This record gives sequence, C-alpha cells and structure tokens, in this order.
Amino acid sequence: EAAQKQGFDWYMRKEIFEQPKAVADTLLGRLNDRGELQLDELRMSPELLRRVNKVVIVACGTAFYAGLVAKYAIEHWTRIPCEVELASEFRYRDPIIDPMTLVVTISQSGETADTLMAIRHAREQHAKVIAICNTNGATIPRESDAVIYTHAGPEIGVASTKGFTTQLVACYLLGLYLAQVRGMKYGDEIAALLAELERMPDAIQRMLDAKGAVYDLAAELVDATSVLFLGRHVGYPSALEGALKLKELAYIHAEGFAAGELKHGPIALISEGLPVFVVVPPRGRDQLRDKVISNIAEVRARGARTIVLAEGSDDEAHAVADTFIELPRVSTLLQPLAAIIPLQLFACELATVKGHDVDQPRNLAKSVTVE
Ligand code: G6P
Repeated sequence: EAAQKQGFDWYMRKEIFEQPKAVADTLLGRLNDRGELQLDELRMSPELLRRVNKVVIVACGTAFYAGLVAKYAIEHWTRIPCEVELASEFRYRDPIIDPMTLVVTISQSGETADTLMAIRHAREQHAKVIAICNTNGATIPRESDAVIYTHAGPEIGVASTKGFTTQLVACYLLGLYLAQVRGMKYGDEIAALLAELERMPDAIQRMLDAKGAVYDLAAELVDATSVLFLGRHVGYPSALEGALKLKELAYIHAEGFAAGELKHGPIALISEGLPVFVVVPPRGRDQLRDKVISNIAEVRARGARTIVLAEGSDDEAHAVADTFIELPRVSTLLQPLAAIIPLQLFACELATVKGHDVDQPRNLAKSVTVE
C-alpha cells in the first residue's frame, strides 16, 4: 500500500498532487491541430445537439458542485437554459423533461444510486442522456446515450479531488463543444478558452507548489470549530466545495455561501476570529470583484479572520486579507480549477493535523450505491 501511495501519507494527498496530470489527460486528444474541439467519442449527432432546448445536470456531492460551475459556463457559451439538480431531488418532483432536453449526469464512480435512478427517469421521458464519468464501463455510462470520460485515473480517497477538477474540464469541453456545433459567434473566444484550458495544468501545478503556506494555515487553525467560505458567480460553487471538503475530512462546521447573501443571514454568524475564506473573481470582472472586496471588508470589520484567494496583482484584495493566497490570472469561468486546489490542501492538512483518517472519513462511502 505504501508503494501505491508513492511516498504520500494519504491517497487523497497523492490524488491532489496528480491533478495537473489528470487535467492534462482529460484534455488529451480532444483538441485538433486547428484548435477546435473534437469529441468523437460523444456518439450523439451534431443535428441532435443543435435541437437541444434545455440542459439539465444531475449529480450528487462534489459532482453536483462541478455541475453548478457548468451551469454558468454552458449558459454563457451556448445560451441554452441549464438547470442543475441534486439527483436525489430530481426524480421525486416530476421534472419537466422531453426529447429536446439534454440530461447530463456527472459521477466519478458511475455507480451512485440516486444519479442512476435519475437517468432511468430521464430516459423514460425520452430525454437524451450524456454521462460524465471517471470509471470505464460503470453502470451510469452503460445506461446513458453517450459518455464523456474524465481521465483522472482511479480515485481511492473517499473525498473527491481529481475527480472534481476533471469533471470541471469535461463540463467545459461539453459546453464549448455545444457552442461549437451550434455555430455560436464566439469562434475566437472558444479558441482562446481552449488554449487557456491547455495551460491549466501549469496553473494548477503552481498552486500545488505553494502548498507550504496553506499547510501552515491549517496548523494555525487546527482548533477552529467553524469555518465559512464565500464566493460569487463560479466562486460560489468553489466555496461550497471547499466547505464540503472540510466537513468530510475535518468534521468541523463549514458552510459555503454566496457572498451576496451575507446580509441576508450569514453575517450574523461572524464572530471574533472566525476564519472566512473568500474567493475573489479575477480582475476584468470588476463589478463583481468590487462587490466581493466590500463583502470581505464587511466581515473583517466584524472580527472575521479573512483568508483571501485572489490574483497576485489585486492590491485591494491584499488590503482586506489577513492571509492572502495567490490565484493565477485566468478567465473567470475557469477559475474554480485553480481556486479549489488550496481549499483541498487545507482540508487534507487540517484533518491530518487533527489525526483523522483522511482516506476513510467516518460515516462516508466512496460510492453511495443505495438510495
Ligand atoms: C460520495 C463521495 C463523494 C462524491 C459523491 C458522488 O458521497 O464520498 O466524494 O462526490 O459520492 O459520487 P460520484 O461517484 O457519483 O461522483
């Protein structure tokens, strides 16, 4: 087993550090030399994809948060309405789906019972189903019309890490492919985003190289009993996933909020010294960024200890940060690929310092095959 962990203390930590490769492998072979997307494996005709009038993403856990990010990307790039729903809710509320609906399921294991049931329900209504999955030949891809495999390699740690980032990549590829086949007028933007995706493994590597500061922070916050995570736009699902990692591994109260909702409740939770992670949108989305910066100032004025994830050149973000974690300069929609890395490292390290079993957290299963 020690050999399989390749010198890491946990499979999870090993899998966190495998992300540059996992992301690169998931992109591999999917871009042709003209810089266009080629998803040959997606056995679904362009005509059919052009007729789609609604996308519904269903998933559980971490995969659901990847789906939340995908909604921002798919709607922006394709202008097709996109809903995201927890698989366990989807089937029980009589969702409106028909043959023009594209249902996208996201599942690392491909065996999650709720997600599988959602697929069966969708296909009974004659919707087309694409599975995003990491496990070759699993039940979910077998029961779907088409599949986009993530090439993360086996994920052993119960808490998903490289599963998540490769799901994000697959969602981006699907969104850009839909835009491409539907002839959207974003030719240049699509090419630029694809080029940027190809640079993401390096950006992720730089985040991993900066692990020391994140580990120090985890050691410092080992006695925290509650941690909040804030973000807007795609920073919001990043916040939710950061909080989930901490709950799963460190067993402490952790909550992700949309920063804009602060004044509608969460701000009442702020007390002296409460750690609050905030994901700041890249510069260039200045309206949004300014609002997040003032949200940080608000929680800090009430005593929160702010841990700010922002671009290195963002002086205003520096000014409101008790701890600053530098993010690379990337497009807003791709930012979660980088922003999640320190949040994963933080949860893994905090749980380690607390003496928990990081690979087998209490009460959790890698794949939930019962409803
Ligand atoms: C379990 C795992 C999570 C995972 C979720 C969905 O709860 O512990 O890490 O995100 O299932 O799993 P899936 O295999 O469908 O992505």
